Amino acid sequence: MPGDKSISHRSVMLGSIAEGITYVTGFLPSEDCVSTMSCFQALGVNIERPADTELVIHGVGLRGLHEPGDVLDVGNSGTTLRILPGILAGQDLFAILTGDTSIRRRPTGRVVEPLRLMGAKIWGRDDGRCAPLAIKGSQLKGIKYDLPIASAQVKTSLLLAGLNADGETEITEPSKSRDHTERMLQLLGAQLGIDGNLYRIRGGQQLKATAIDIPGDISSAAFFMTAALVVGNSLLEIGNVGINKTRTGIIGALNEMGARIELLDLEGKSNEPRATLKVRSAHLKAMTIEGDIVPKLIDEIPVIAVAATQAEGRTIIRDARELRVKESDRIAALSTELRKMGADIEELEDGIIINGPSNLKGTRVKSYGDHRIAMSLAIAGLVADGETTVEDSECIAISYPSFERTLLSITE
Ligand code: S3P
Repeated sequence: MPGDKSISHRSVMLGSIAEGITYVTGFLPSEDCVSTMSCFQALGVNIERPADTELVIHGVGLRGLHEPGDVLDVGNSGTTLRILPGILAGQDLFAILTGDTSIRRRPTGRVVEPLRLMGAKIWGRDDGRCAPLAIKGSQLKGIKYDLPIASAQVKTSLLLAGLNADGETEITEPSKSRDHTERMLQLLGAQLGIDGNLYRIRGGQQLKATAIDIPGDISSAAFFMTAALVVGNSLLEIGNVGINKTRTGIIGALNEMGARIELLDLEGKSNEPRATLKVRSAHLKAMTIEGDIVPKLIDEIPVIAVAATQAEGRTIIRDARELRVKESDRIAALSTELRKMGADIEELEDGIIINGPSNLKGTRVKSYGDHRIAMSLAIAGLVADGETTVEDSECIAISYPSFERTLLSITE
């Protein structure tokens, strides 16, 4: 599997504000991660790229970023848009962040509000609720803040602002979101207090550069795990998949649906576990996904919905309102497009209900410019009768440029 997107972003961000040289291997060469890299280059960081998946980052230290000469373009990357303000708010510079049409519709109030409580000077459209955002660096102070929704982007933004703030920053989240930032901060020598869903960080700690090897992205592997399950007589081994337990909700969910996914060659490197996954076709049954598990598989819900169209019974997915504000409104996109292919789907305000199994039929479907919708529909196309055309599929390059090549290599 190509590198994990979340960890690739963080390797550039933390490598840039560390002291010394960070050598990154397994970097994901996708549009989103390249957007993050370009932003940090514009902020004065020397980043060499000896190979597509390798970076050499010359860290500038905690407060060493330079004022960019132009507007910073985050492209389609929500992770960059939410985390960068936390890094920039405590630097001595002025910066403007913007991106594509989809990113300018996505909510930013969730980071702007708590950063303002820390003393950050941030402005944006609709009083900071949408990009473009403008940031004038200032001296931040630590706060105590309870996140209203579980979000790794918001948690990361506040932890990194806290790293540059006076005193201690204490954050709690309602359920645990992915913990790659915490792991990487610890790898780079930071002291972090973690007690369940409560996080504490003391300001002024310098990060020490080191080598970071990034595991493959389980969110990308999810498309092929599902493909192997729903296409008869399949057997697939997927190597180098990150199996951090804040991300493996997909394995648990598919196993509960009747898959028997095996984990082989377990290994730990750069504070992130990884393994080879062995997946076979299976007779799937419906399940309910709700509550604390949702943040651990939020990005995989589109492809879980495809698996559910082939499962016996009523699959219920709820507590997933966040899907409405991802790269597209994923609840509406999935309901509309899978219905066109013959699935029996009901749209809920915070999820979907799928009655299966359905005989899908190939047709023209839309991606809404959303990479995960495009790839999920391509996997649905594998089990559909006839031909499926996914319109606007170029967006797949946002997270998985080699998706089509891999898909062709595993199908006959
Ligand atoms: C991400 C966190 C999640 C996830 C996104 C990547 C990250 O978003 O959906 O694809 O890298 O921190 P939220 O923080 O909005 O839940």
